Amino acid sequence: MAKIISNREIAPDTYLMAVQGKYSGKMGQFYMLRSWRFYPLLSRPISIHDINDDSISFLYRVAGEGTVLLSQLKTGDELHLEGPFGNGFPELKGKVAIVGGGIGAAPLYYAAKALGSSSEVENLDIYLGFREEPLRLEAFEALANKVRVQLGGNVTELVNPNSYDYIITCGPEAMMEALYKKSVGSSAKVYVSIERHMACGIGACLVCTCETKSGNKKVCKDGPVFLGEEVYHG
Ligand SMILES: Cc1cc2nc3c(=O)[nH]c(=O)nc-3n(C[C@H](O)[C@H](O)[C@H](O)COP(=O)(O)OP(=O)(O)OC[C@H]3O[C@@H](n4cnc5c(N)ncnc54)[C@H](O)[C@@H]3O)c2cc1C
Ligand code: FES
Repeated sequence: MAKIISNREIAPDTYLMAVQGKYSGKMGQFYMLRSWRFYPLLSRPISIHDINDDSISFLYRVAGEGTVLLSQLKTGDELHLEGPFGNGFPELKGKVAIVGGGIGAAPLYYAAKALGSSSEVENLDIYLGFREEPLRLEAFEALANKVRVQLGGNVTELVNPNSYDYIITCGPEAMMEALYKKSVGSSAKVYVSIERHMACGIGACLVCTCETKSGNKKVCKDGPVFLGEEVYHG
């Protein structure tokens, strides 16, 4: 059990939770969280938003009963977390763009922090799309040369894939698919972080199966990060 340091509502129904302790994890990986004993049955997968020397944080949107319970946690309350799980974003080099939509920005902050401090990354640009209020904009702005924000509309329109070697993205499926399709034939390889319902989180139950060009894969173990060309048709 770990102790909650803080759990603040930073936008309507969106919480930033910091948890005490030493944690590890790569960009794009996730933890399974629960603050309840018996019901709901399953822990909930939430991506690493940030890790510091003595804490880990999660940025999450209230979607249903599990995240409602998480949102009610106060400083000093206890949380059970297991992880890190999954295959995150790979180490990248050259010119990199990060593209997030809505709460899909959650894992991209930790990714931006890792890529921004990598000597292999020549240039890092961040594109974020939100329906209304931007999430953690100042924090993102501290990490990259260029942060462009689209409120309403389609953030993929801001991105020129030919300016990049790699694009990593997380957000609504339609946004990621559109970005992948836009990148076909460009210089950029696209990595997408996809979401599925999860039960075990460790590759044992098959609840999170997704179809790829090389057969069915488990999002919790083989993903959540995949090459766009594996999961979308160009
Ligand atoms: C690898 C991974 C990382 C994630 N990281 C984050 C994160 O950093 N921040 C964040 O806010 N959320 C994240 N999510 C989504 C989060 O896990 C779900 O919103 C949460 O499990 C919902 O639980 P609940 O009990 O609140 O809602 P439930 O009562 O379980 O569901 C509420 C509604 O959301 C739908 N739903 C639940 N889970 C999913 C899902 N995985 N995909 C699509 N629809 C779903 C349900 O069908 C239902 O309509 C992640 C999911 C995955 C798979
Ligand atoms: S959640 Fe059980 S196999 Fe992925």
